[in-house]
Amino acid sequence: MRVRILGIGMGPRHLTPEVADALRGCDYAVAARKRDDDGLLALRRAVCDAHGVPLVVVPDPERDRDDPADYRAAVAAWHEARVAAYERVLGERGGTAAFLVWGDPSLYDSTVRIVERIVERGAVPVEYDVLPGISAPQLLAARHRIVLHGVGRPVHLTPARRLSEAVDAGQDNIVVMLGGRPAFDGLEEWSVWWGANLGTDTEELVAGRVGDVLPAIDAARARARDRAGWVMDTALLRRTP
Ligand SMILES: C[S@@+](CC[C@H](N)C(=O)[O-])C[C@H]1O[C@@H](n2cnc3c(N)ncnc32)[C@H](O)[C@@H]1O
Repeated sequence: MRVRILGIGMGPRHLTPEVADALRGCDYAVAARKRDDDGLLALRRAVCDAHGVPLVVVPDPERDRDDPADYRAAVAAWHEARVAAYERVLGERGGTAAFLVWGDPSLYDSTVRIVERIVERGAVPVEYDVLPGISAPQLLAARHRIVLHGVGRPVHLTPARRLSEAVDAGQDNIVVMLGGRPAFDGLEEWSVWWGANLGTDTEELVAGRVGDVLPAIDAARARARDRAGWVMDTALLRRTP
């Protein structure tokens, strides 16, 4: 049995020829139905339809989001439940399965870890490979026509909930993902390049001094959510010299 972990970028127009070929060679594709991403599921379905591959939807196990103190344990339990759910589908169907990953599998996505775990558990013998896709930070940079970092300088990537920790540690060029718009408290003088629903027809972009553009970001975020029924945003924050 074979699993192909395929990065599909931000939707049907982003599939690389390599990923499209791989998808067409699969017997079926597997995607999770998450509580809050039915819009993304529709996009995955469009990708499968365009390539004539049936989509098997796996209901995502509920995740306990109420106790941030036990965040790691909650995520571990949720991952194990997801592993079991995917393992069941693979065991029942066999063949070659595509796991469709939004963006690129290397960035804030658990699919690679889930498949590693399926291999470790050994109940279903699986070989797998990973093909890359276009990630949200890449698309953000392209849309704003910027480089993510200064010449020869680092860039730091973080979930929004760890932004203040990154700032306190002295990071001054930060890509923020996951968890909605960060508070930006104390960052009013920084520059921001922000984007929501990148790559889709509800894309929104805002750039400027944080203190000046916060209302524009909030308005654009609300607009994206109204139009698409979901919103995901990514921002580059840079301390101004
Ligand atoms: C679970 S992570 C997946 C990241 C994905 N693997 C990638 O390569 O970009 C979801 C986060 O990615 C960012 N993201 C994903 N799709 C996006 C989009 N179309 N526009 C803006 N940000 C997006 C948001 O920060 C969102 O909270």
